[in-house]
Amino acid sequence: MAALPIPFKLRNDPFQNALSNTSKLVFNRLIHFPSLPSTNVYLRQLAKRGEPEGLIILADEQTHGIGRLKRNWYSPSGGLYVSLLVRPLTITAQDTPLITLTTGLTIAKLFETAFGLKPSLKWPNDVLLNNQKVAGILVESSFIGDTIEYAVIGIGINVNTPLRNFPESLNETATTLFETLGCQVELPRLFEYLISQLEFWYLKLRDKGFKAIESHYRRLCTTLGKHVIIDMGEYQLTGLAIGLETDGSLVIQTTEGHQKIHSGDVVSSKSRNTIE
Ligand code: BTN
Repeated sequence: MAALPIPFKLRNDPFQNALSNTSKLVFNRLIHFPSLPSTNVYLRQLAKRGEPEGLIILADEQTHGIGRLKRNWYSPSGGLYVSLLVRPLTITAQDTPLITLTTGLTIAKLFETAFGLKPSLKWPNDVLLNNQKVAGILVESSFIGDTIEYAVIGIGINVNTPLRNFPESLNETATTLFETLGCQVELPRLFEYLISQLEFWYLKLRDKGFKAIESHYRRLCTTLGKHVIIDMGEYQLTGLAIGLETDGSLVIQTTEGHQKIHSGDVVSSKSRNTIE
């Protein structure tokens, strides 16, 4: 097996101190790197070697951050890049997308409560501020039959980097907390809040199921009720987003009837009135 980068312990690491302020019911260990290719890749390797649930990998920057659909995730220092390992026994393999939805909800709620912002969620997992993407989630899982062997929850939040430093290709679609708030955010505090909130919502999902969080997700999800175009990889699907299934998939009313979408990229969404 390939060798993994060796973590070194910073003395008085503010992120370790931040973690000690959380309840540590699930997420209870942190390895913090100044730089990694990708926190998800690192944690997946540990997960495959039997690492127990609860480990968090944090990097100040990533050199090869991974996004959904094999895209790159731009990860300069000044952002928050974390991966968290869970091994839920009560969530079936088929319901894994609910972990993604719950994580998106967590981040949106955090922005509301910590900063008084008005975030929205683009199904399944983009967190938007003023319609521009500020955070992304990549959940990578392994299954044994119908059960989840492990899920690595990767979270990237654009925090303190001014948008002018982003690659030009992202200027139209991305934003950062700095751009929205007009000031820098203390990363260890944001990390502490994120872990506490994620623990709260993840435990709700794990122990009570999606019904315990569905109304919160629906309130923030701006895809529902809109006319959407969804990029399915090989083709595009057009229709009205009319609902969510209990496994988190999106129900689209198309000219050919209802279709259940497990994953895809919403490339356009317009209110019904704009179209009609
Ligand atoms: C997306 O495309 O929206 C998902 C982006 C996920 C990025 C995060 S940053 C931390 C973790 N490590 C990675 O390489 N990717 C995820």
